[in-house]
This record gives sequence, structure tokens and C-alpha cells, in this order.
Amino acid sequence: MLVLGIESSCDDTAAAVVDSGPKGSVVLSSIVSSQDTLHGRYGGIVPELASRSHIEMIIPVVESALDSAGVTIKDIEGMAVTEAPGLVGSLLVGMSFVKGVSFVNSLPFVGVNHILAHAHAAFLIDKAEVEEIDEAPEVPDFPFVALVVSGGHTTILLMTGYGEYRVLGATLDDAAGEAFDKTAKLLGLGYPGGRVIDSLATEGNREAITFPRAYLSKESLDFSFSGVKTSVLTYVKKLKGGIDDTALRDIAASFQEAVVDVLITKTVRAMESVNVSSLVVAGGVACNSRLRVKAGEECDKNSFDLYLPPPKYCSDNGAMIASLGFQKLKKGERADFNLNAKPGLADF
Ligand code: KG4
Ligand code: ZN
Repeated sequence: MLVLGIESSCDDTAAAVVDSGPKGSVVLSSIVSSQDTLHGRYGGIVPELASRSHIEMIIPVVESALDSAGVTIKDIEGMAVTEAPGLVGSLLVGMSFVKGVSFVNSLPFVGVNHILAHAHAAFLIDKAEVEEIDEAPEVPDFPFVALVVSGGHTTILLMTGYGEYRVLGATLDDAAGEAFDKTAKLLGLGYPGGRVIDSLATEGNREAITFPRAYLSKESLDFSFSGVKTSVLTYVKKLKGGIDDTALRDIAASFQEAVVDVLITKTVRAMESVNVSSLVVAGGVACNSRLRVKAGEECDKNSFDLYLPPPKYCSDNGAMIASLGFQKLKKGERADFNLNAKPGLADF
């Protein structure tokens, strides 16, 4: 089944074509048009500008996804679109587009939750990989724990089936990516700053400064990242003579270590609490090099199986939407024209 996945919940317009594989979904194409430059000058996302840009980009992005997959809309058998959570104006662009295409081409479609879709990035396999190797790469079996870390959400999920989940923990305030972005902004590193902190941190000393780790209570699987960001601000204000390059790298590395420590400690705790030994780490912050290394080390230590989608499928993309959408379509789920955007976080 060829599925077209469309993502427009925040500041990336993305489309992908996936095919069903023996294990997981085979990605035939995945196109992402980023709005980073548009919002960068404002230091954060401007919702009205985001939806206007989606309107401009959605048709070229979908056309490009179809072209790169070597198919036309007539070959597509189903569509999936992000329905929640996100910016309402942005969500509505993708949703209205999919409804229009469905009406004209009599195509079935489903709405998909963006956070669950991040976890389903673990089932994506590149077409080239399938052709080059005899055995398809490993994809996780259920149940598994998914740590979804992004600009808008930080959630630990117990995944029991495609689209079936239980929330084990979530952030009480800032998401991990939001903490990276706000810290980068106060350090004058621009927006979005997660990637910049990651790259500065590679040359910094992660033990230079002990920023606080908010573990909350001993059993808690929830997160709080607003304190560590404030600690960086307080630290910077106390520095006499400004921040030189060495200090900046040390702050970046120490801040990153504090965030990664909490993310990994709580995830391991969550896995032990539900007695599950497979872990998926996904979402934009899963591109972070230190998080990827530390997740690997902890999984080795605990004999857990780790599934880390490549960075292009960790940050927002249409393939993860198609991955979950394909499973829903396969189960017979169909949305109708009453499908509406659900901007709130709902259960997450
Ligand atoms: O999943 P995503 O593309 O969009 C949302 O659903 O929010 O995640 C974007 C977030 C941003 O906060 C960005 O700064 C962060 O992921 N991010 C990173 C890295 N790359 C992207 N954070 C830390 N290290 C990175 N290498
Ligand atoms: Zn996302």
C-alpha cells in the first residue's frame, strides 16, 4: 500500500511516500521544507507566519515527494495527516489540503497524532537500505518504551501496539527541545538553538559546571526543565567580563549533560518499572549526539535493545506520519471530512 504522509503541525512543511515492507514501512521519498530562516529573526515561531508559509509550500513539497518517489497521485492508495498536537493554523493547512486531494481523487485518509508518529519513526526503512542488504534492518517488537523528545513535547510512552500506548511520564513545564532553544537564545546563539548547543558542546567540558538535575521525587517519571534554563541564566549573569569562547562551550556542554542525564535516568527507570527491554528514542532532540551516545551506553549496560532512527526521521518529517497512518489504514480506520485539527496536547 502506497501512503502519502503530510506533516504541517509546526514550522516544517513535510511530505513523504512510503510503501509497506515485510517489517515496517519503506520510505520511497521524504521532503522537508524548513521555516527556520523565516522564524529565526524573531527568536521563535510566529504562528501566523508559519501557517502562511505552509500554504505556499504544501503543493511544491507534495509534488516533490511524489516526483522523488517516481509516482503520481493516481498511484497513492491512502493518505495520513497530522491532526494533533500543534499550532491550529498550521495543522489546518495540511488537513485542508488532504481533504481536498481526497475529495478529488476519492482517496481514503486518516488523522495521526504527531507524538505517536515520532515513536513510529522506528519502523521506517530507507528504500536504498532494503535494496542493498539481504536482511531488512531491525525494527522493534512490541512492547517497547519510547522516549519522544522534541521542541514541543517530552514524553515517555509504553507502546503496546501500532498507535496503542500508555503515557508513563511527561514534562511538567518546558519540553527538552524548548529548554535547548531558550538556553541557546539567552546565550545569543539564535533560534532554533539545539543543534548549535550540541555542536559547541562537543568541544566543551561537560563537568565544568554542575547545573541542577530536576529528578522530582524518586519514583517520578515526569520531567521539569525550566529550572536548568534559569540556572544557566543566573550563572551567565554572575560571570564577570562576559562569556569567552571557552566559557560558552563549557556552559553548552554542562547544560546538555544536565538535560541528557535526566532524560536517560528517567527512561531507564521507566523501562524497569514496566519490565520492558526495548527502547526507541525519537523527536528532534534525539538528533543530539550526546543523547545518542548516552542512550547507547545505558542500553549496553542494562542489556536493552536500542532503536535510534536516523536524525532525518527524528526531526519532523512526513515519513513518520505515513508510518503510523499506514498502520491505521491497514486496520480499516478512515477519517471523514469532519476531521478537525486538535491543537491541544490532550493525553500527552
Ligand atoms: O521534532 P522536532 O523537529 O519538532 C517538534 O516536534 O518540536 O524537534 C525540534 C526540536 C527543537 O527544539 C530543536 O532545537 C531540537 O529539536 N533539536 C536538537 C538538536 N537538533 C534539533 N536539540 C538538541 N540537539 C540537537 N542536535
Ligand atoms: Zn515533532
